[in-house]
Amino acid sequence: MKPSQIIHGLHIMKAIIITQPGAPEVLQLQERPVPVIKDDEVLVRVKASGINRPDVAQRKGNYPPPPGASPDTPGLEIAGEITEVGKNVSRYKIGDKVCALVSGGGYAEFCAVPQGQCLPIPDNLSFEETASLPETFFTVWSNVFDRGKLQPGETLLVHGGSSGIGVTAIQMATALGSTVYITAGSDEKCNFCEQLGAAKAINYKTESFAERIKALTNGKGVNVILDMVGGDYTVPNLQSLAEDGRLVLINTMWGKNTDIDLSIVMRKRLTITGSTLRNRDVAFKSAIAKNLEQHVWPLLSSGKIKPVIYKIFPAEDAAAAHQLMESSAHMGKIVISWQ
Ligand SMILES: NC(=O)c1ccc[n+]([C@@H]2O[C@H](COP(=O)([O-])OP(=O)(O)OC[C@H]3O[C@@H](n4cnc5c(N)ncnc54)[C@H](OP(=O)(O)O)[C@@H]3O)[C@@H](O)[C@H]2O)c1
Repeated sequence: MKPSQIIHGLHIMKAIIITQPGAPEVLQLQERPVPVIKDDEVLVRVKASGINRPDVAQRKGNYPPPPGASPDTPGLEIAGEITEVGKNVSRYKIGDKVCALVSGGGYAEFCAVPQGQCLPIPDNLSFEETASLPETFFTVWSNVFDRGKLQPGETLLVHGGSSGIGVTAIQMATALGSTVYITAGSDEKCNFCEQLGAAKAINYKTESFAERIKALTNGKGVNVILDMVGGDYTVPNLQSLAEDGRLVLINTMWGKNTDIDLSIVMRKRLTITGSTLRNRDVAFKSAIAKNLEQHVWPLLSSGKIKPVIYKIFPAEDAAAAHQLMESSAHMGKIVISWQ
């Protein structure tokens, strides 16, 4: 891939564009102006971009970008080298290697990022590995530890254990002292999650997770559930929580509506909560970055937590990367490379 060119005084880069809502083929490599940074932003020459399920929803037209984000270039996480710094940027300089959470525009050769949403790349990790981290690490920290208040010694159930979110939650919560159970849709995915550190993986296609969790916890239930499924999972989720348990929703892939007997919430003093990360402001995301740098980055540097990459595609093949994600055959993260 050639570096950015100057055409009629504009710096031009390659970017993957959602040309219209639709199937993966609507993603096309086109030219766009290099973003202009604000005073508190850095310009990153992107070496790799992580792919996340919300990008698929955006491509289909079901997840519009928030105000200020690129209207037609998806991508929530990047890694690369800083080529320009804004007037108010104190932490970073040109040439620094960073990975970053962005609210869009990540599938491009250059991306403007608020300095607070950047994290330094640990020496032992590549651009492709670190591009796979920000979206799931920020989401898991914010939902499992901030909202779900998971404590060392407590138990966590993660649905979709082999997803990008799942492999992050398994490793982070285990490393920070919790016992993690997961659900996944095949024995292969279950084995993979147990190798990553899950204490027990439940194949939801062949057994009831609520019954299994009851047996695994001697009838007590788990302290926190991280759920991306919603719908019909809600009743068994509430049944699977311990007293004072917390259900944290990050998506409703099986439906937004459900019928529940609310008395269980009172009897067990349960908390039902959830959040979406993308629409939160820079200050909120920067606060998560600080916590990650303090509590999780040392675990990445020491190798206790590892990026889990399933496949790397060249940027030109972004459509194939989306096809793979939609097949749900992957385990861990999918990344596109600009190198
Ligand atoms: N709230 C937030 O801030 C936030 C941020 C990031 C991601 N998310 C959400 O977190 C979830 C995981 O994201 P990711 O990027 O890690 O996803 P991913 O790697 O693509 O994994 C998704 C997995 O979910 C399982 N699944 C269950 N029901 C499904 C359905 N109806 N359609 C497709 N897959 C289904 C599949 O595994 P099985 O074979 O085991 O079923 C699939 O592999 C997504 O729902 C995403 O929207 C939320």
